[in-house]
Order: sequence, then structure tokens, then C-alpha cells
Amino acid sequence: MKTLYLIGFMGSGKSTIGEMLSNILGLPHIDTDHLVEEVYGQTISSIFQSDGEGTFRKYESEVLKKTPSLNHIISTGGGIVEKEENTLFMKENGIVIYLNTSFEEIAKRLEDDQLRPLWSQNVKEKKILFNRREKLYEENADKIIHTDNKSAREIAGEIKVLFE
Ligand code: S3P
Repeated sequence: MKTLYLIGFMGSGKSTIGEMLSNILGLPHIDTDHLVEEVYGQTISSIFQSDGEGTFRKYESEVLKKTPSLNHIISTGGGIVEKEENTLFMKENGIVIYLNTSFEEIAKRLEDDQLRPLWSQNVKEKKILFNRREKLYEENADKIIHTDNKSAREIAGEIKVLFE
């Protein structure tokens, strides 16, 4: 099976669903955010703080391009679609699945989040980012899965049946 890339905004459930799919399908799971932290030995917050978003994006593309094209589930960071080289790579290398979650649902889930540098902006800026990104996710997805009011298990199940 071709590798599945999960894309979507922060808080859309990419890591949770990726882990669950990995268990259901018996395929290894890679989370690009975790891989960046592991490879570069720094948390994402500290990369943003000390070197800026541009450095994080460079690291993110580097780890993405090392992901295998077969039999893996890859959870990506919400900003992976910001670089065309990343979307081209994912489309060529695997199947891209967009976890579509409404802004209202994300705002509820990430209410107290302190770990995501781009979620610490004011609501207006977050909404602008969400609207801009939503188009990029849609344009680059092979499949769109709506996640509002569904459990992680239901969502993982919906993705699984696409490949039966
Ligand atoms: C980011 C999303 C984060 C992480 C970084 C930047 C973004 O990942 O990659 O904080 O630009 O949306 P999650 O989508 O897993 O929160």
C-alpha cells in the first residue's frame, strides 16, 4: 500500500488518527513534528523561538523527504502545505488525506494549548491563517475526511475502508 499522509490544521487530530490507523492497519507511524524534535534535538517551540519559523520549515521539509513511499502512516504538521515542494512530494510519494475540522471545533480543542507557537496569535490572525490554509489542504488532498462530531475511532475507520 502507498504511504498515507495526513494533512490538516493544528488540532485536526492528525497525530491521534495516525497512531490509531497505524494500529488498525499494522503499519508504522511517523509524526513529522516528533521527527523534527528527535533529529534536531530541540522542541518545536524552542526552534521557533531561537531560529524562527523559516528554520522550522526547512527542518520539516528535510524530514518529510526522508519518509518512505510505501506502507507507512505519516502525520504532518499543520503548516506542511505552506511549501509547494512538500505538497508535490506527498502527492508523488503517497496518498494525501485531509482531516477537515471546523475552526470552531479546533478552537474548542486547542483552548488551553501552550505548545503551538502559531496558536498563540490573536483570534483574528488564527482565523486568517485557517482560511488561507483550508484552500491549500483542499487543493492538495486526494481524499477529504470531515471530522467534526466524530470520534477518533470513527474517523480512522472511515479512512481504513477507503483502502479495502
Ligand atoms: C504548525 C503546526 C504544528 C507544528 C508547528 C507549526 C503550523 O503541528 O508543526 O507548531 O504551522 O500549523 P500540528 O498541526 O500537529 O499542531
